[in-house]
Amino acid sequence: MTNKTFYLTTPIFYPNAKPHLGHAYVTVLCDILARYHRLAGDKTYFLTGSDENAQTVARGAEKAGQDVRAFTDSLVGEFKTLFAKLEISYDQFIRTSDERVHWPGAVALWKKMVEAGDIYKKEYEGLYCIGHEAFITEKDLVDGKCPDHGTTPERTKEENYFFKLSKYTLLIKQKIESSELEIVPQTRKKEILALLGEGLQDISFSRPKSKVPIGIPVPGDDTQVMYVWCDALSNYITALGYGRDDALYQEFWPGVHVLGKDILRFHAAIWPGMLLSAGLPLPKKLLVHAMILSGGKKMSKTLGNVIDPQELLAEYGADALRYFLARHISPFEDGDITREHFKEAYNADLANGLGNLASRIMQLTQMHLSAPAVLEWKPLPKEFTDAMERFEINKAAEYVWGRISALDHKITETAPFKVIKEDAEKGKVIITELVVELAFIDQMLEPILPQTSKKIIEAIMANKKPKNLFPRKE
Ligand code: MSP
Repeated sequence: MTNKTFYLTTPIFYPNAKPHLGHAYVTVLCDILARYHRLAGDKTYFLTGSDENAQTVARGAEKAGQDVRAFTDSLVGEFKTLFAKLEISYDQFIRTSDERVHWPGAVALWKKMVEAGDIYKKEYEGLYCIGHEAFITEKDLVDGKCPDHGTTPERTKEENYFFKLSKYTLLIKQKIESSELEIVPQTRKKEILALLGEGLQDISFSRPKSKVPIGIPVPGDDTQVMYVWCDALSNYITALGYGRDDALYQEFWPGVHVLGKDILRFHAAIWPGMLLSAGLPLPKKLLVHAMILSGGKKMSKTLGNVIDPQELLAEYGADALRYFLARHISPFEDGDITREHFKEAYNADLANGLGNLASRIMQLTQMHLSAPAVLEWKPLPKEFTDAMERFEINKAAEYVWGRISALDHKITETAPFKVIKEDAEKGKVIITELVVELAFIDQMLEPILPQTSKKIIEAIMANKKPKNLFPRKE
């Protein structure tokens, strides 16, 4: 056991529609990492939540003809149900609409930034993209539309509070260059350093309450509410009690953020700027994943190409979905998902691979060993821990499946079913070796396939063949 602490966060999700596979993806990646750290003995705190004070959420409620609260309550319920089905082991689900949990810390952070002289008021005119919840520039547009959301941004003129982000450009750059704030993978680090090289602009930090009906009032000026990104990013510390009861904050901050490349700029520029202004420690690491594509395009409600994770869950179960997301989508490159590939991977790696292996070995032990095998503790293999530490979840899974197929070969090579007939003692030794290796593999399966891992270890402890773990799909 170590006594390291490990604090891990997902982005917080807009509860403006049902969760899609992209949301399941980032959350599963985080869950695997959180479970891995618990397994490695780290004291782990895992946060997820919802980003509610956003125009996209207010618009969603309006369209649905619902009161914002009722609308978000129901969608937050959908996220929580999905996460429960996926066995997501979060410690806290923060809602930025929570006035008790979230607001005091967001206000405290704002005040610190005011004290630092970094907040000022300015008339502003720009193009606002609701999909991004951000002002975007003319040069980002394609045919007058936001290329990511396919919508025409709104020309908006208003008086806002601004944050002097420009002041922190150099400092942020240094912290990233020196990896005091580590960005994984390197390509994303380079991308953000190039952006910092151009210099950061001051950014709008509030919106008039008349335009955005929901949100945290700006301290000392209730005609304005905090702009969504300032309000949202602070969740990572307010959840730990920053600005109220900060025991968890003292224990766990700074932590590690997992995020999609689409929100890198917010996390690698704005958030560090805010923390530097307030004199707070920067996050340790940003783990930046790529997108799951559907038919070659980013899944988006606006494009209408979302895959419903509930469907895959109903057909294949949580572990199969977790497995596919972990092993067959690279965290760092955009990856496409198709139903055919999903089924193929399921049959090959789970039904024929792991499921078949566990069943063959346990059949042998049940028949030939009179008691469960004695298991001894062994450290996790370096190939596995290194891949996890580098956030190469697919490589970690690949390593485990490498051992699964090696064990499969070992059964063929050692032919215990034959040996046992000729030399019972020798046969038992072979079978014991097989089941000990299965148990060892099972430990590494826990972060990836928690339900299956539990079934296998229970079968080993009971010396009994498990029920069909992964029925073949035709
Ligand atoms: N609310 C902001 C994040 C604020 S964090 C302080 C947000 N929310 S979101 O609900 O639109 O998306 C949350 C995250 O889900 C995305 O930023 C992205 O990282 C992830 N994904 C959304 N679609 C995705 C894919 N198609 N593939 C992989 N991840 C995707 O952005």
